[in-house]
Amino acid sequence: MTAPLKIAVAGLGTVGAGLVRLLQQQAELLESRCSRRLEVTAVSARDRDRNRGVDLSTAEWFDSPEAMARDADVDVVVELIGGENGVAKDVCEVAIANGRAVVTANKALLAHHGTALARAAEEAGVALCYEAAVAGGIPIVKALREGLAGNRVERIYGILNGTCNYILTEMRVSGREFSEVLDDAQSLGYAETDPSFDVDGIDAAHKLAILTSLAMGCEVDFDSVHIEGIRHVSAQDIAFADELGYRIKLLGIARRTADGTEQRVHPCMVRLETPIAHVEGVYNAVVADGDFVGTCVFEGRGAGAGPTASAVAADLVDIARGVQVPAFVLPAAKLAPSHTSPMDRHQGAYYVRLMVVDRPGVIADVSAVLRDEQVSMESMLQRARAPGEPVPVVITTHQTREASMARALVRIGDLDSIVESPRMIRIETLER
Ligand SMILES: NC(=O)c1ccc[n+]([C@@H]2O[C@H](COP(=O)([O-])OP(=O)(O)OC[C@H]3O[C@@H](n4cnc5c(N)ncnc54)[C@H](OP(=O)(O)O)[C@@H]3O)[C@@H](O)[C@H]2O)c1
Repeated sequence: MTAPLKIAVAGLGTVGAGLVRLLQQQAELLESRCSRRLEVTAVSARDRDRNRGVDLSTAEWFDSPEAMARDADVDVVVELIGGENGVAKDVCEVAIANGRAVVTANKALLAHHGTALARAAEEAGVALCYEAAVAGGIPIVKALREGLAGNRVERIYGILNGTCNYILTEMRVSGREFSEVLDDAQSLGYAETDPSFDVDGIDAAHKLAILTSLAMGCEVDFDSVHIEGIRHVSAQDIAFADELGYRIKLLGIARRTADGTEQRVHPCMVRLETPIAHVEGVYNAVVADGDFVGTCVFEGRGAGAGPTASAVAADLVDIARGVQVPAFVLPAAKLAPSHTSPMDRHQGAYYVRLMVVDRPGVIADVSAVLRDEQVSMESMLQRARAPGEPVPVVITTHQTREASMARALVRIGDLDSIVESPRMIRIETLER
């Protein structure tokens, strides 16, 4: 039997305590699978006295996680503190510099410093693993790195934030507005007190930047991701989507185009017949389109102690078995600079909702703007009639350039008969 894999855990919150619990409960299973024991021998967090519901009596306590990463007699340091900079980054850098493998669940850190950390890990000859950083318990990093290694991935997309998916699902089921459902999500613990990271799309963008690198072989480039959140999605839009045969989902999408790789996070209308339309509540999903395999759909829990610990444990098993592969599939030196296609070159179909004063000639004015900007209308829907009052008018378009659509929306918004800014949601064409 090989010597045990000695593990230091930095951060004993939801994920850290969950990991310790999993490693204790599954100790025999893991030992038989790795032919060695996985032992937590060092831990660090802020509050030494907090009861974390797990037995930490056999692990050495460190007040400083950086000192632990440097001094503890361990093979691997697991960073579960969080944050793109500061202590989390220091812990990873110190661990790598001291020849220890690193496992992290920290998507913010990887989105901003992933390529540099991968380079440092390669130079030090240690593993950098992060299965838990993207879509929680779904083993998508391993799938891209190993299972789909024979494919060129043309597009990868997914529901990457459970909070947003929960809110959009609840809005549809209950017919309530965003702010009311957000309040509920906060009291149920599905949304943070400051929900902006989730509902403004930043968390999903962190994960998308990592997925893009893995799938497209480029450097991680968070700054190039186009990001829109779900605050402007209204109950009315969700009801219209239903009527038109769509669901509204916050998707992260990376797609190869002639102009470069699109990286975008925004609300999308997806056809009801597509698998991703039926991923509801806090669940996540990732769909990869490979040139040989076709479309692969991965679905599961994107957060929570159990699923996230499960993903961290998978990385530890790899390390215990001596499996070591480049963090982002290609060696860091071979990752191409990311070549992101600007959003105004995006080509797609659009849903537009206008609040118009119901009087003769309005629709003709709107149609004239669309014609001038070469936006071809696919359908128009006006449900209520209320002469002289504002009523919703919904337009869907054929494929058009984002730049044309943006110009048309500005001009339509300036028309006298339009009473609020036009609302636009992109329609995403996906496989069934
Ligand atoms: N929660 C999830 O479902 C989930 C899912 C996927 C990925 N992740 C990622 O996993 C990481 C951890 O998330 P979490 O939800 O477990 O966070 P959390 O519950 O807030 O736990 C953070 C832990 O870090 C410790 N900590 C904070 N600052 C520290 C410092 N300066 N020195 C030492 N310890 C410090 C805290 O110590 P105290 O306990 O003593 O305060 C706490 O134990 C994040 O990167 C997150 O994005 C989380």
